[in-house]
Amino acid sequence: MNLKNRDFLKEIDFTADELQYLIDLAIELKAAKRERREVKHLQDRNIALIFEKTSTRTRCAFEVAAFDQGAHTTYLDGQSSQVGHKESIADTARVLSRYYDAIQFRGKSQEMVEELAQFSDVPVYNGLTDEWHPTQMLADFQTMIEHTGRKTNELSFAYVGDARNNMGHSLLMMGAIMGCDVRIAGPSELLPSAEIRALADAAAAKSGARITLTDSMDEALLGAQFVHTDVWVSMGESPEIWNERVKLLSPYQVNREALAKTGVADVKFMHCLPGFHNEQTTIGFEIASKTGMHEGLEVTHDIFESDLSVVFDQAENRMHTIKAIMVATIGD
Ligand code: CP
Ligand code: NVA
Repeated sequence: MNLKNRDFLKEIDFTADELQYLIDLAIELKAAKRERREVKHLQDRNIALIFEKTSTRTRCAFEVAAFDQGAHTTYLDGQSSQVGHKESIADTARVLSRYYDAIQFRGKSQEMVEELAQFSDVPVYNGLTDEWHPTQMLADFQTMIEHTGRKTNELSFAYVGDARNNMGHSLLMMGAIMGCDVRIAGPSELLPSAEIRALADAAAAKSGARITLTDSMDEALLGAQFVHTDVWVSMGESPEIWNERVKLLSPYQVNREALAKTGVADVKFMHCLPGFHNEQTTIGFEIASKTGMHEGLEVTHDIFESDLSVVFDQAENRMHTIKAIMVATIGD
């Protein structure tokens, strides 16, 4: 498999075999690091990390993966650099391509990361846009494979909640490409658009994936081995929509009752994080105080902390999968 010099912008740019190769490489890199036999494939490479939106996992995963492999990173944001407000994406791409071997971008629009890739001479990685979160998908699939020992096309999972955000879109598309049994549940106004559904249907026609989009938790959950959710208000959305979202999405909370609907005794809970499951964050406290939802928002605290929750394995795998992307695209 040769992925040298490829951008990593969205799932549909890749075949199932290419995505599987990256997941397998991440599994091998994880084992190599644990067994202290990691070989450095990125000696003296330089990686630019542009973050228009905040991050803990994605930034740290890129930095640690780069350092493990012998590469160096530079962090840029909108305030302390010229990106966006004073210099266009096209100009930034051409400047950074002269210094760096790859560029990571997290920001609002998919068009922006696509434009960065168009004007850049080096691979560009999408670290999250409003539309897609493709690096997260490799970690989510690595985690589901590790926890079941199943082949990718034997996985069955549900995503419940705000299903027209980056996570809803990406889980739908990745499941469709990889041939999974994918169930997406949310209120009809928060289900993926017709355009996204058409893309997923086309991918499913090739892979044999089963896709269910529904407003029914019962329908989505029965038989699912994994239940994913995400925050009810994403980065860049107005805090004023919290009230409306809580009303719309409360029936889609992941709690004990929801997991029981799967009928799967060892069902696992997944969340890309950060998640609101207690009042130990400013937003979590504020929304819980306003709504009286003291047990958690998109997921209850007891489920988040239970043995069914694999969220920290999932978070760890961000690093191994991001390392796999860099090794595959710019490594020796
Ligand atoms: N899951 C994820 O992308 O986390 P960060 O926002 O912390 O990078
Ligand atoms: N949907 C979330 C994902 C965070 C990793 C957001 O965009 O804020």
